[in-house]
Order: sequence, then structure tokens, then C-alpha cells
Amino acid sequence: MNVLVIGASRGIGLELVRQYRAEGAAVTATARDETGLARLRELGATAITFDVATAAGAASLAWPTDGLALDVVVLAAGVYGPRSSGLQTPTEAEFDAVMHTNVLGAMRVLPQLADALAPGARLAVISSRMGSIGLRASTSGWLYRASKAALNSVLKDASLALEGRAICVALHPGWVRTDMGGPAPISTWPRARAACAPRWPPCSPPTTGAS
Ligand SMILES: NC(=O)c1ccc[n+]([C@@H]2O[C@H](COP(=O)([O-])OP(=O)(O)OC[C@H]3O[C@@H](n4cnc5c(N)ncnc54)[C@H](OP(=O)(O)O)[C@@H]3O)[C@@H](O)[C@H]2O)c1
Repeated sequence: MNVLVIGASRGIGLELVRQYRAEGAAVTATARDETGLARLRELGATAITFDVATAAGAASLAWPTDGLALDVVVLAAGVYGPRSSGLQTPTEAEFDAVMHTNVLGAMRVLPQLADALAPGARLAVISSRMGSIGLRASTSGWLYRASKAALNSVLKDASLALEGRAICVALHPGWVRTDMGGPAPISTWPRARAACAPRWPPCSPPTTGAS
């Protein structure tokens, strides 16, 4: 099984690399600095430098995936942005940083991968329940919420474009104890594992595009 994990220097992405490697998968994974690349190499992954937030960085994904038939792709790269609690307008810089990483990043990455997917490939973006409009009951982190809502839309369009070629889902991993997640009161790694484990959640073609 060929797996690509984007945004794997730490947190959920790194954990996915560890789990897929433990299953014996051939894993290609990305990080932005030498520390992250070294962590990936230690796990036996092919480590490539990649930044989803820059056009030049995104373009560099094409050559390492050229010739690979990817069975699983997970886009885990993400940032939270301002820890706002109400309707505090973000600065343009904050807006750009979050939207460029969480939304434009996906819009750069997903088209590049279309030709590298194996038949029946599974493609996931790590979204969040915080991006759900229907389930919304809090205004905390509204910029992050807006970015994940937009990411869900991007994933839906990707699922339509890749219909018949890949099952595409936007996953909510649960509240996970990472740099972004902070001190989750209850360890939710089992939930994250359930959502993102090598044995994929029960997705079938009718569920493609789900978030
Ligand atoms: N933790 C939670 O409770 C939780 C809940 C729901 C959803 N999520 C989502 O899960 C994903 C992973 O989150 P996490 O908790 O593992 O966060 P994390 O520990 O903060 O890790 C974020 C990862 O994204 C990478 N990244 C950030 N900006 C990037 C860029 N421009 N290009 C490439 N990689 C970039 C980081 O790389 P660097 O080390 O280079 O910064 C790091 O590997 C995110 O999309 C997040 O929104 C997390």
C-alpha cells in the first residue's frame, strides 16, 4: 500500500505515518523543516520538504509523487490561527495565514494528486467538527471554523471531480492532544486512530464527498 501524508512533522500527521509504517505501508510524508523530516525518516518514511502555503512549495509535490500509485492520501497540514472567543475581526495577515494553509493549500494539492491516485484510492482531508455549520454551538475560533467549512466545500468538489477514481472524505478526528489541540481533557487518540487508522473508516463510493 502506498500512502502519502501531507503535514506530518508532528501531531496527527506524524501519528498516521507511525501507524501506516507499523502496518507495513510504503509511506511518503512531508514536513517543512529538518527536525520534522528527521522524525519521518526515523519511522522509515520517504520524507519530502513541502509547504502547502506557498505556490513554489506546492509545485514541489509533483516530482516526488510522479510514478507513484497512491492508495491513501491524507492532507493533515493545518493551522488554527487566533484563539478568538467572539466576533473579533482577524487581521489580514491572520486571515491569509489560516486560509492559505487550510483552504488554498488543499486547492493546490488536490489537483496535483489526481494523476497519482491508484484505482479506488482513498483521499482524506483532516477537517473538524468546528467547520460544521449545522452543528455550530459556539463562536470560538471563528476564523478556523470558516476555514474548515471552506475546506469541506473544497473536498466536496474534489470528490465530484474524482468520482469513480477515489473515495474522498473530510474527517473529524476528535479533540486530539497535540500542539494545536492542547491539553484535551480526555485523551482522544483512540478516536483519532479510529477515524484515520490504516483500516479506513467504513467508506464506500456512496459516501465519497462526505464531511
Ligand atoms: N488536534 C485536534 O484536536 C484537531 C481536531 C480537529 C481537527 N484537527 C486538524 O488536524 C490536522 C492536524 O492537526 P494537529 O492537531 O496534528 O496540529 P499540529 O500538532 O499543530 O500539527 C500541524 C501540522 O500541520 C503542519 N503544517 C502547518 N502549516 C503547514 C504548511 N503551510 N505546509 C505544510 N504543513 C503545515 C505542521 O508542520 P510544521 O511542524 O512545519 O508547522 C504540522 O505538521 C489539522 O488540519 C487540524 O486542523 C485537529
